[in-house]
Amino acid sequence: MGKQFLTMTVNGETVEVAVEPSAMLIDVLRDQLDMIGTKEACREGECGACTVILEGMTVNSCITPAMKAQGRSVLTIEGVDDQGKLHPIQEAFIEKGAIQCGYCTPGMVLSVKVLLDENPNPLEEEVKMGLSGNLCRCTGYIKIIDAVMVAARQMGQ
Ligand code: FES
Ligand code: FES
Repeated sequence: MGKQFLTMTVNGETVEVAVEPSAMLIDVLRDQLDMIGTKEACREGECGACTVILEGMTVNSCITPAMKAQGRSVLTIEGVDDQGKLHPIQEAFIEKGAIQCGYCTPGMVLSVKVLLDENPNPLEEEVKMGLSGNLCRCTGYIKIIDAVMVAARQMGQ
């Protein structure tokens, strides 16, 4: 089958791309739109490195067919800042030292964003549950959870 046209909104901008029917969303973002902030690790839907927000919900873009984004809105890590000013979640990750190799960070930040949008005042246990689909091999999670609590406080002010 030939390529199909995909029209979607990425970080507020409408884009139209010709995609292979078998393409996953991560492939279109990284390879066709040069948005390499979205990371690929397991490519099996297990680690969350490739997390993006599709219509307000987190998805693993490595197992999400690109055509699922047809007519829908995608937010990637490139779109979370406010005209160059880091998002409070990003600030909190830096402040708390929650970034080591950084490979999990873009997906983690997007998952935290959805978590705090839905639950602005989470308990630590709720944060742990909310981030259970995002694996980090470096930090041991404690600093990440601290960062989420700081971000929640900042965003609540
Ligand atoms: S790369 Fe997508 S879940 Fe691991
Ligand atoms: S900081 Fe390295 S995987 Fe999380």
